[in-house]
Amino acid sequence: MASRMHILVALLLCLSSGALAEDPYLFFEWNVTYGSISPLGVPQQGILINGQFPGPKINCTSNNNIVVNVFNHLDEPFLLTWTGIQQRKNSWQDGTLGTMCPILPGKNFTYRFQVKDQIGSYFYFPTTALHRAAGGMGMLQVHSRDLIPVPFDRPADEFAVLLGDWYNKGHKTLRRILDSGRTIGLPDGIQINGYSGKVGEIVTKPLATMEPGKTYRYRVCNVGLRTSVNFRFQGHTMKLVEMEGSHTVQNVYESLDLHVGQCLSVLVTANQAPKDYYFVVSGRFSRKAMTSVAVIRYANGKGPASPELPPPPPENTAGISWSLNQFRSFRWNLTASAARPNPQGSYHYGKIDITRTIKLANSRYQVNGKLRFGINGVSHVDGETPLKLAEYFGESKKVFNYDVVKDEPPKGNTVVVAPSVVNATFRNFVEIIFENQENTIQTWHLDGYSFFAVAIEPGTWSPEKRKNYNLLDAVSRHTIHVYPKSWAAVMTTLDNAGMWNLRSDMAERVYLGQQLYFSVLSPARSLRDEYNIPITQQLCGIVQGLPKPIPYS
Ligand SMILES: *[C@@H]1O[C@H](CO)[C@@H](O)[C@H](O)[C@H]1NC(C)=O
Ligand SMILES: *[C@@H]1O[C@H](CO)[C@@H](O)[C@H](O)[C@H]1NC(C)=O
Ligand SMILES: *[C@@H]1O[C@H](CO)[C@@H](O)[C@H](O)[C@H]1NC(C)=O
Ligand SMILES: *[C@@H]1O[C@H](CO)[C@@H](O)[C@H](O)[C@H]1NC(C)=O
Ligand SMILES: *[C@@H]1O[C@H](CO)[C@@H](O)[C@H](O)[C@H]1NC(C)=O
Repeated sequence: MASRMHILVALLLCLSSGALAEDPYLFFEWNVTYGSISPLGVPQQGILINGQFPGPKINCTSNNNIVVNVFNHLDEPFLLTWTGIQQRKNSWQDGTLGTMCPILPGKNFTYRFQVKDQIGSYFYFPTTALHRAAGGMGMLQVHSRDLIPVPFDRPADEFAVLLGDWYNKGHKTLRRILDSGRTIGLPDGIQINGYSGKVGEIVTKPLATMEPGKTYRYRVCNVGLRTSVNFRFQGHTMKLVEMEGSHTVQNVYESLDLHVGQCLSVLVTANQAPKDYYFVVSGRFSRKAMTSVAVIRYANGKGPASPELPPPPPENTAGISWSLNQFRSFRWNLTASAARPNPQGSYHYGKIDITRTIKLANSRYQVNGKLRFGINGVSHVDGETPLKLAEYFGESKKVFNYDVVKDEPPKGNTVVVAPSVVNATFRNFVEIIFENQENTIQTWHLDGYSFFAVAIEPGTWSPEKRKNYNLLDAVSRHTIHVYPKSWAAVMTTLDNAGMWNLRSDMAERVYLGQQLYFSVLSPARSLRDEYNIPITQQLCGIVQGLPKPIPYS
């Protein structure tokens, strides 16, 4: 009897810590420090993890339990989020200021989460205080379990590529600009894994080295602050195989657009004369022309890369149609498996009735002469107490009101500055329309979920537009971009209980309020739907010192 009790207690402990005993654990210890980096050739203060920028790669397999003990050696509170990792039943570890207390300077905190039923390419990054402008990000890649078929041959090797726009001003200077009510303006250039190459430079450190005849997987993420990019390989085409956790139809591309916050995997075969080639990244839809290159080397190859770069796709109006057509070519491979043995397409999302339509419009505002951004007339602010903790301790009334933000954009350009929380209903099948009436491109991301990116179109959304949705093989992913004066639609089932951040992927916009939270509460308060608050959870604000509510059972 006693031993049976022990087993039960052990099982409950495992469940409540968000892990199942049979899945392997991977342990990491990370020191977060300042250190000098020069992504654009100019030394500046960067944020390093174990001395590295980009930070260490997390290489894992579906269902692994990840334990990361993060030591904050900065002089400011710090948090990391694992963007695209769904954190089933576990918004406690999501790393946003609405769900967690930040790790104070000199302290450490151990994240514990499971990459449950996921495969694919993701990244982690700091959510606090514009730290992302200084680094702190890295690749998180999830392999399929051995017995699950992968719809392409195992590549000879894999290369992680984190790229994006970059500012030579440090994050503290950029933050001072935003706090004073101004925009940080345009970036200084583009970095590729911490470097920025120019055509003709002598290169000692190639981005990748390939053996002739072999095929390689490149996992590429845009970790920039605001700029969409296009990337391409000189002399080589790319076969798209994966996008933010879904296996795609394997189309071949000369070049690919990648918007801020997005990741994808391409296969590249070393089938050209053995020498160096350029990997080219250029800014898209930006008022500033920016291009960087990195070198792709052939093992035992001879000769430098040709100075003639493959051209970028068109810009402006023609560029938007080009990019939109490319988006429409991205399809879910219905017969391929992802993390589970059954085909991805066995989930027929197009046949589910929509229970709620939420239309969200981004806007730019002036509040007391200072720049703010927001959604549907609400510019979100983080307080001392994380929203999730206030809600869990029954103290939400002291911290926020549900539904300050409405399901429809308001008329006019008025704005409220307040914590922005949507009261969402557990298991609703929702349609979210993103309306972008501004002149700049947007990217959005939702924590805790993947969604079906069913449409992007120019103009304004109306219910008739639903007939244009891709209800068959839209890619299930966690980001969507919206071109200027356009809209986008996504669909998902809100079956992951927790407090989940929906945010602009543009660092300046999210910092100045273009984000909100979905509170998805299971009425059952049951372990079936949500894990208990971890015993190690940091408490802060008004919930510090309060007695813990009765645990879920
Ligand atoms: C982190 O820093 C501590 C000293 O502050 C050191 O003992 C430890 O080895 C470091 N860990 C890693 C993984 O670098
Ligand atoms: C990453 O994980 C995969 C699957 O577990 C393994 O085959 C591969 O060798 C790992 N790569 C690295 C660099 O650790
Ligand atoms: C901080 O690190 C120590 C030493 O590794 C560890 O024992 C402790 O659990 C960590 N604290 C938290 C809150 O994760
Ligand atoms: C889809 O995946 C299957 C594996 O199930 C693969 O054989 C097929 O080539 C893929 N189709 C396309 C169009 O990429
Ligand atoms: C949230 O919405 C549900 C209905 O879906 C309602 O029962 C509940 O009272 C609402 N909660 C708050 C705090 O408004």
